[in-house]
Amino acid sequence: MKVAVIVGARPQIIKVAPVIWKLREKGGISYFILHTGQHYDFEMSKVFFGELNIPEPHVNLGVGSGSHGEQTGDMLKGIEQELIKVKPDLTIVPGDTNSTLAGALASVKLKIPVAHLEAGLRSFDFYMPEEINRRLTDACSELLFAPTQTAVLNLLREGISKERIHRTGDTMYDVLAHSLKIIKRKEFPYEEFHLAANEKYCVLTLHRAENVDSREKLASILSAIPRIKAKIIFPVHPRTRKNIVLFKLMDFVEKTDNLVLIEPVGYLDFISLIIRSELVLTDSGGVQKEAFLIRKPCITLRDKTEWIETVRLGGNILVGVDTEKIVAEANKTLSYGREVRWDKNPFGDGKAAERIYNIILNHFAK
Ligand code: UD1
Ligand code: UDP
Repeated sequence: MKVAVIVGARPQIIKVAPVIWKLREKGGISYFILHTGQHYDFEMSKVFFGELNIPEPHVNLGVGSGSHGEQTGDMLKGIEQELIKVKPDLTIVPGDTNSTLAGALASVKLKIPVAHLEAGLRSFDFYMPEEINRRLTDACSELLFAPTQTAVLNLLREGISKERIHRTGDTMYDVLAHSLKIIKRKEFPYEEFHLAANEKYCVLTLHRAENVDSREKLASILSAIPRIKAKIIFPVHPRTRKNIVLFKLMDFVEKTDNLVLIEPVGYLDFISLIIRSELVLTDSGGVQKEAFLIRKPCITLRDKTEWIETVRLGGNILVGVDTEKIVAEANKTLSYGREVRWDKNPFGDGKAAERIYNIILNHFAK
């Protein structure tokens, strides 16, 4: 029995890591890791293989950046060729990126069943490329690994038969729980993050195409920063850095004294940064969850989220990109904190990968 695991972008490598650990630990199922090459900078890809202790990909297609059609089309062609050679019994596709969709499409058309890790997520925002990717991937998949009860309900509402849906919990909780133990033993690199010991700060991440590809929206978000009453550490995604330069916003950024731009950091350092922060500002999907799990208040720079539980439990507030709203909400949280039901964890028990392994094994047994 053999599974192909398809990754390409930063969060996919992180969320699939616990499944690879399980496959390696338990044996019985061999695996083949195919990297599309969607992310290629060291700090967007290779760093995670090393620090999360997963084997280097067997193949990297080196597709790189491009328009949606070009990038997804190149992946589709390359993945198909590899799957024909490798002949897996199942393909695992994590998340909602173009690599996810290309992997699912290439596989299902070769009649190789697909397992979607992180199935059933919905933002109900059809302008998000990820919303299209995840809906189409779910439609192609035979095994749908839903991280939350909301995800299960979304799938049932769309008429997907319940035999295909498995509520597994979220592998991002597995990887976080595992990594917290390693982080405890590590020194925190204050200097690297331009921080004095015990200095108070917030963490900002920003990369959604609908936010950073628009000068108006990007400028609206960045304009809030000087008025937020804390230092802001900003590991900048390459898409965002490119647009800050393109939109001639670098001058503004450099003049903003409380804003510290750094390169994207590895997973362990990023989680360490969140642990010591006062507040997280983000438009990332994964970071909203991590902030909740680490019990840090989060401000999401979007109008909608697929991780609605974080909002319902009070940990996360959706503010969109309006400067005034960002400033008001950030300063309010910094001054008064927030009432949050932190004890409720909607993302599982750290055993999602174990369940996934067992479901795959049972599937093969049938
Ligand atoms: C992609 C995913 C998004 C996910 C994000 C995680 C899609 C449609 N988008 O967005 O769902 O949340 O990854 O980070 O699949 N670039 C580099 N170096 C790299 C990678 C990208 O410089 O290693 C730059 C290039 O200029 C590229 C741009 O970033 O054009 C965007 O990269 P791309 O992979 O197309 O989308 P992301 O914004 O990273
Ligand atoms: N992350 C990281 N370094 C960074 C920023 C984020 O390791 O500098 C991790 C973060 O901990 C989370 C994941 O990247 O696990 C989220 O990826 P991203 O925000 O790029 O994508 P999304 O989750 O929105 O798809």
